[in-house]
Amino acid sequence: MKKIGFIGYGSMSSMLVSKMLQHQTLKEEQIYIYSRSQHEGVSRFKNCHPAVTLTSTADELAANCDVVFICVKPFDVKEVVKGIAPRLTSVKHVISIAAGVTTEQLARLISAPVSKLMPSVTSEVDAGVSLVVHHEQVTEQQKEALTQMLEAFSLVKVIHEQDLDAATNLTGSSPAYFSAICETFVEATLSKSQLRATDAYEMVLEALLGTAQLLKQKQMTFAETIDRVATKGGITEEGVNILQAHLPPAFDELVTRTLDKYTAFQKQVDMQ
Ligand SMILES: NC(=O)c1ccc[n+]([C@@H]2O[C@H](COP(=O)([O-])OP(=O)(O)OC[C@H]3O[C@@H](n4cnc5c(N)ncnc54)[C@H](OP(=O)(O)O)[C@@H]3O)[C@@H](O)[C@H]2O)c1
Repeated sequence: MKKIGFIGYGSMSSMLVSKMLQHQTLKEEQIYIYSRSQHEGVSRFKNCHPAVTLTSTADELAANCDVVFICVKPFDVKEVVKGIAPRLTSVKHVISIAAGVTTEQLARLISAPVSKLMPSVTSEVDAGVSLVVHHEQVTEQQKEALTQMLEAFSLVKVIHEQDLDAATNLTGSSPAYFSAICETFVEATLSKSQLRATDAYEMVLEALLGTAQLLKQKQMTFAETIDRVATKGGITEEGVNILQAHLPPAFDELVTRTLDKYTAFQKQVDMQ
């Protein structure tokens, strides 16, 4: 039975561990966690899952585990990985979830094969995409094992690293974008109506959920959905025209600026 370790017990790693346990893709006995601060969340988790091992150091975790997930913030990754590099031998598998740190940057520091995982907060409700990139040394067995850990609660997409940042915009980051759009939509509506904020929120939420279900279950395209709702010369078409006129420059800027920021992160990591 392989031992799977998680360095960092924050928002993302706690979600991944809980989901893997909930869907029984991992057993408690297999799981090792190193959390720098022994915060309340860690103790609560250990109380619920007594067979999980909490290690006192990252080194102890790396020495014991076959697979090591690095779940710290981007600018903490190098320090953590350098500290345990002697333990990360070629038989292990290291999986980093940090945005803006490439597999190539990690492969320069350690002998273990490296993969990168971009999870999505939507996997908390068994939805969303887990983006995966494998560096060249990762074996077929290691690739398959990682997919099995993730596919119970997400759609796993293995892609090339050159597309990872663009794809992360569409997956891990998009819940924030969709929420920003809906918030603006609701605020504009409230400013021109007597609706209660809670009602407006519920209306847009149900519409969003229904749209996603329609697109998925009926396999409709975005264009078909627009055609279905916005009849020619009608009122909704007026709204769609406004969005189609104003959104392309906004999204063009969003994609350009976020991709530039990923590049800046990578350069900063290189300089560390
Ligand atoms: N949030 C998302 O939607 C999302 C999506 C995809 C990928 N990611 C990536 O996931 C990573 C973690 O994000 P998060 O949202 O989970 O952050 P978070 O909640 O702040 O968790 C980060 C964890 O890293 C630990 N840590 C920091 N430095 C450490 C060190 N030197 N040694 C050991 N542990 C250390 C922190 O421990 P302390 O409690 O002691 O500070 C904390 O538990 C980031 O790199 C991010 O790019 C996030």
